[in-house]
Amino acid sequence: MREYATRLLPGDALGVKEAAALLRAGELVGIPTETVYGLAADALNGGAVSRIFTAKGRPQDNPLIVHIADLDALPLLAAEVPELAARLARAYWPGPLTMIFRKSARIPDEVSAGLATVAVRMPSHPLARAVIREAGTPLAAPSANLSGSPSPTLAAHVMADLAGRIPAVLDGGECAVGVESTVVDVTGKTPCLLRPGGITPAMLAAVAGGVSVHPAVTGRLPEGAAAASPGMKYKHYAPKAHVVLVRGTPAAYAAFVNARQAGQVAAMCFDGEEGALRVPYITYGRREDSAEQARRVFDALRRLDEIGAQTVYCACPPEEGVGLAVYNRLLRAAGFEVIDVAG
Ligand code: TXA
Ligand code: MG
Repeated sequence: MREYATRLLPGDALGVKEAAALLRAGELVGIPTETVYGLAADALNGGAVSRIFTAKGRPQDNPLIVHIADLDALPLLAAEVPELAARLARAYWPGPLTMIFRKSARIPDEVSAGLATVAVRMPSHPLARAVIREAGTPLAAPSANLSGSPSPTLAAHVMADLAGRIPAVLDGGECAVGVESTVVDVTGKTPCLLRPGGITPAMLAAVAGGVSVHPAVTGRLPEGAAAASPGMKYKHYAPKAHVVLVRGTPAAYAAFVNARQAGQVAAMCFDGEEGALRVPYITYGRREDSAEQARRVFDALRRLDEIGAQTVYCACPPEEGVGLAVYNRLLRAAGFEVIDVAG
């Protein structure tokens, strides 16, 4: 892999121009979106796209999302746009919604990892939209972290993971949503939720009349089962520490954590509940504010490594609304280890 002196580009018109020029030349650039930072390449250039996998250390069989700025680009990428998808696009694009279509012949195999489908999303972040338009091509972009690490919600997170491996990161400050987009399969009659995100099941059902939730959203895929969304089968979002989710009332959680003080135990808890704890802690938002937890969860997971935690007992978030996305990510960070405490 080539080594780069990675530049942090300012989030202005000049930064957008430089990012777009690099992308047109087949290079990779870290770009902000409203969900998390993406590691972008020209989606129609298979050679450029294959570099994403090298830079991230990403398994080759995990396909990428293609990002567009205008609806006109969709028919070039999708072989067919079902009526259901058109309605969801009208309701939630631009925004944190990714839809799975049957792919057109223009999609390089590197993007779809050999599948017959392609994932497409139209981000709402003004810098992401400006870069796509200036580059003049759709952009393939996974989250801009090293494979397996928590997704980046700040340019500094991208730098921490990918400095030296890519030429540039466009700085757009903190991501507003904080968890990756909702991924939904729209090739069937009812939409099937493959990955929860900022667009909630209720929001999908309000437009589509119903929604099914893939069992892998809240559970572990059975050994050998074909993953509807290949990304769901990997351990993900994990800090170096061993994470365990703990479900229970604030009092029961605190009692459980305080009884486990051997070694480098730390807590990942809700704001306002840290006073009861006798171990080092990182907070990730108030218990009743799922949107705040979504914004802060990945940064909190990264900070646990900074304080040198070895075992982390993380207070389990409520699963309603965008909370389902927070729960889904923490469940994977914890390798599906959940403890129910009485109380
Ligand atoms: O918010 C987001 O979606 C961010 C930003 C950068 O847009 N991107 C992102 O990409 O999270 P990534 O690669 O980290 O996650 C993409 C997910 C993976 O779970 C992948 O398996 C799934 O989408 N996916 C991609 N193409 C697919 C396809 N054709 N069928 C099923 N799942 C697909
Ligand atoms: Mg990712």
